Amino acid sequence: MLKDKIEIAEKEALTAFKAAQNGKELYEAKVKHLGKQGAFSLLMREFGKLPPADKPAMGQLINEVKTRLEENYAQLEKELKLKAYDEIIKKEQLDLTLPGTKSADGARHPVSMVINEIVSILSRIGYSVRQGPLIETDRNNFTALNIPEDHPARDLQDTFYIDEGHVLRTHTSPVQIRTMESEAPPIRVLAPGSVFRCDSDISHSPNFHQIEGLLVDRKVSMADLKGTLTYFVQEFFSKDIKTRFRPSYFQFTEPSAEVDCSCPICKGKGCRMCKNSGWIEIGGCGLVNPKVLEHCKLDPEKWQGFAFGFGVERMAIIKYGVDEIKLFSENDVRFLKQFQF
Ligand code: PHE
Repeated sequence: MLKDKIEIAEKEALTAFKAAQNGKELYEAKVKHLGKQGAFSLLMREFGKLPPADKPAMGQLINEVKTRLEENYAQLEKELKLKAYDEIIKKEQLDLTLPGTKSADGARHPVSMVINEIVSILSRIGYSVRQGPLIETDRNNFTALNIPEDHPARDLQDTFYIDEGHVLRTHTSPVQIRTMESEAPPIRVLAPGSVFRCDSDISHSPNFHQIEGLLVDRKVSMADLKGTLTYFVQEFFSKDIKTRFRPSYFQFTEPSAEVDCSCPICKGKGCRMCKNSGWIEIGGCGLVNPKVLEHCKLDPEKWQGFAFGFGVERMAIIKYGVDEIKLFSENDVRFLKQFQF
């Protein structure tokens, strides 16, 4: 009898619905029992073959059963959804009474601190900051600074070459060139930044920092340079620190000098830092070589200049008494935190 078959089909569908553990299984049960290939579709075919007199009652029964199953489905679907939410909530529950995880504080790097301080001191006498790229043209890093092709500074030992025309800048001096070529004098600029040399041992790092100073004006002399650097050293270390200039040689300055200051650690008495000499070298300087001015299309008859360059790590080593350059690049926060005065 069709009626019995309908009842069995209803029971089977219901059992399958109830067995579903989640929305997906429930949906699959629905497709299986009420879908096109399901038991009800087969029963509909049998329904078609009934004598017309039996059709109304049987049709009504089928509709009632289908509606009941749809309602059951909807109810079970709702319950499974709530169950799924409950599981998510249980799994993702936050215990708000747990102690929080503290994010560790960073610390300003002594290299940044030294750069900031130098910029601050020299900005009081009119200097402002300029920057240049770390990958420089061979011409800006060397040729325009009057360092000829065959100079040992170009030796592969010292310079990281990128390609034939480009290097990782070996000093901040190319910013002198960039500035003189893009700005009209008078010029007073500072160029702090990263530099690279193919050199690595206890006191050398392949990547370190320099800060370059450049002044271009009319009638600039060694006396102006000495006055400026003496002022700077006294502001940076302390008023009782002396400055000493030793004749030296750089292609891009003429005359050139090495700048020493009396040792801020032992005040000139002699210690490990100054190797018992009482003096410490902090950088190089000199009057801008007229050839460099000419490279930058400035008339040396009209304009003169001076330039200086300090090693930033070196200044930090002296100022804070650090004895290994490696410490500056290890990023150990315990080291860095010592400088937060
Ligand atoms: N560029 C030089 C160096 O790296 C330092 C320097 C700068 C010397 C400016 C003179 C003038 O050694």
